[in-house]
Amino acid sequence: ATPSIGIHDLALATSHHSLDLESLADHHGIDPAKFTVGIGQHVMSVLAADEDIVTMAADATARIIARNGTDGIRTLLFATESGIDQSKSAGVYVHSLVGLPPTVRVVELKQACYSATAALQFAVGLIARDPSQKVLVVASDVARYDLGSSGESTQGAAAAAMLVQANPALLAVENPAGVYTEDVMDFWRPNYRSTALVDGKGSIKAYLNAIGGAWQDYADQGGEPFESFASICYHQPFTKMATKAHRHLAVLNGQNPTPVEVAAYLEDTMRYNRLIGNSYTASVYVALASLLDHADDLTGARVGLASYGSGSVAEFFGGVVQPGYRDHLRREEHTAMIDTRVPLDHTAYEVLHKTTLPEDGREYRTTAERAGSFRFVGLNEHRRLYERG
Ligand code: CAA
Repeated sequence: ATPSIGIHDLALATSHHSLDLESLADHHGIDPAKFTVGIGQHVMSVLAADEDIVTMAADATARIIARNGTDGIRTLLFATESGIDQSKSAGVYVHSLVGLPPTVRVVELKQACYSATAALQFAVGLIARDPSQKVLVVASDVARYDLGSSGESTQGAAAAAMLVQANPALLAVENPAGVYTEDVMDFWRPNYRSTALVDGKGSIKAYLNAIGGAWQDYADQGGEPFESFASICYHQPFTKMATKAHRHLAVLNGQNPTPVEVAAYLEDTMRYNRLIGNSYTASVYVALASLLDHADDLTGARVGLASYGSGSVAEFFGGVVQPGYRDHLRREEHTAMIDTRVPLDHTAYEVLHKTTLPEDGREYRTTAERAGSFRFVGLNEHRRLYERG
């Protein structure tokens, strides 16, 4: 019989700094409840000058390798929408920083916040062909919007690294997957910009429409009933969005849950994201880590994953939580990582936000803030320089 295939280990990483959204609200003269209640965010992760998507990804991946070794790993799929190079995959820098052998193929995937889910499905396919192989799926992103824009409070940064293999310890991925693609301009970042452009209200509508389409395709293909999901991890650009999406799917399935019921159903999936902010490709897997780390025993339970990437592509699929999964979690590690971030005051946050790399590739050194861990050191002759602490 074909073995089950899915997520064997899941490690998160986030930034060195954080910004309390109350200080952002104060600065803009906005009622903080708009952020904490209205969008459901309390704190956001902010990268130090010597961090980027590579250093976060290396952090998360190194911890996966420290626990599992590199045996059987033949592929690293890097998912991001805040890429650092138009040609070279950020995953190749990670491959080198964490010391993977040359016999690992590396490639980067892009479709806004969705591509880590494509990577996970591609990994499952590779392992179905050869169950002795393992695949690293690494999602890493920094969400940046212009200062003073309505998106500013939904910034954040994180990486999620997953080891995908046969007979996984955490979650066995089920068939079918429901998918939905539609060409919409709800959120995008042209090559010449470091911050995204977004049609805020339009993006919420596009998300709901696409997630509904993915659910419909899932159902049409003989997916499991909506009631059979113990919980659903939604892409969380801000946690309130997950509650909107869940209500939307519930109504499509003939239910009419109250806001309190929806919030209770999703609570464990939202604990990390409301303290980290949007992490684009990583967000739905941050939600999965949050659920597994916090929920009462989920052994044997079916969990839904609802992934959305603007532009747009959505996917819905289920997974079954594996016996003994609690021995493989990283709750203390994740909690410490979030709790030990260094808070910024609003002035320091603005200075960091305005710091950009020279566009002519000239010699440049970042300020050293992350002693002892992976660092983005600067530029030399258009080359990005990293070091391993
Ligand atoms: N107390 C409590 N609640 C308050 C409040 C107060 N004082 N003031 C406002 N609110 C509520 C509002 O009623 C609203 O709630 P509902 O949506 O439930 O009605 C909520 O707070 C937000 O208020 P606004 O709609 O007025 O907020 P805004 O227009 O300034 O910004 C946003 C909201 C459009 C989401 C903006 O943050 C944004 O553009 N974010 C980036 C885009 C985004 O994340 N889109 C999500 C879907 S796209 C996607 O998922 C891909 C991705 O990752 C980007």
